[in-house]
Amino acid sequence: MTDRIYLDHHSTTPCDRRVAEVMQRMLVDEFGNASSQHLFGQAAAAAVVESTDEMAAALEVLPSELLFTSGATESNTLALYGVCRHPRQRRRKIVTAATEHPAVLDPLARLAQEGFEVVHVPPYPHSHPLVGQVDMEALLEAIDDQTALVSLMWANNEIGTLQPLQQVAERCHQVGALLHCDATQAIGRVPVSLAKVDVDLLSGSAHKFYGPKGVGMLYVRQTGRRVRLRPMIEGGGQQQGLRSGTLNVPGIVAMGRALSIAMAQLDSDTDRIGGLRDRLWNKLATGVDGLQRNGPAFEAGRLAGNLNVLFPGVEGEALMAAVPSVACSSGSACNSVNPEPSHVLLAIGRSEAEARSSLRFGIGRFNTEQEIDTAAERLIAAYRHLRTMLA
Ligand SMILES: Cc1ncc(COP(=O)(O)O)c(C=O)c1O
Repeated sequence: MTDRIYLDHHSTTPCDRRVAEVMQRMLVDEFGNASSQHLFGQAAAAAVVESTDEMAAALEVLPSELLFTSGATESNTLALYGVCRHPRQRRRKIVTAATEHPAVLDPLARLAQEGFEVVHVPPYPHSHPLVGQVDMEALLEAIDDQTALVSLMWANNEIGTLQPLQQVAERCHQVGALLHCDATQAIGRVPVSLAKVDVDLLSGSAHKFYGPKGVGMLYVRQTGRRVRLRPMIEGGGQQQGLRSGTLNVPGIVAMGRALSIAMAQLDSDTDRIGGLRDRLWNKLATGVDGLQRNGPAFEAGRLAGNLNVLFPGVEGEALMAAVPSVACSSGSACNSVNPEPSHVLLAIGRSEAEARSSLRFGIGRFNTEQEIDTAAERLIAAYRHLRTMLA
């Protein structure tokens, strides 16, 4: 299909051609194993060092504080299991938000089965100006001197809310708890500087910022507070023994290039993408009576490319099926095998019916005004058609 329109950039992004070129060179020409001593290995290792330096500079961390993984699911799992299952971990409490991604909630459910107390702090509801942000009073109260770890995402993958992490970091460090942040939706989309936000562990994934799938990173603090991490994958001793296995050199180098491009274009991408998001909202709101926005106001702390809307009286799945040429999502696409309504929308106080009537759009770097206009026209026409059929 030639006229398909991709508006699902929270799920994944296309690999930027500039990134794919670098990756191809690493796959075909500089294919050495970075652990090998010979010239091929040395060239691969040098490329990894250069890319690691670049990524560390972008995030304002030390190069030795970055571990490379297969993506954010692995990074989150390593952070959560690694800290909590460390033999010297004495604390038994973990605090998180009800709106986290399953890649945080599911490992925490496992840790709860193993005897940890896991507290899920609710977000402010949709009637509140800070909708989606974690209820700060409840969060600060939950974090105490028995808390081993707090896990709070930087930006929400469904409603785009940005969390006030620095305030949370200060509270964690007062009581000796560590702070993990799933920054998968934030890296490359908003400034993520760990010189300004004092987290101890941070997860990211290249395919969310126009890099390839199957490669991610975990930042693990090495200065000041001690972060003890028990490895999950052993054998070979790569990456300080914390994540063994042959380094994914093409993936790491491509991720470095993708992050450099994203940082260089951050302001211009954000302005342009935010403009397209406003355009989509305005067009849809003009064509659909009673359309509602899920999540914070656009000018409040929200990812520029995120739009989550409630189409009154129509199921989101039905609307998506009626407009197959427009790629969007009826919830968290990473969790789309699960037919349950979005746990994030329920957590902000939407009913099951409202959650099922909602669609998430993620606008990205290569979208055009023409695509936005066409997508809006098709969605409005399909919505009106479904409404008349249901009347
Ligand atoms: C917030 C968040 N965390 C984690 C993940 C999982 O990332 P990956 O696909 O790299 O495993 C996603 C993917 O959608 C996400 O949005």
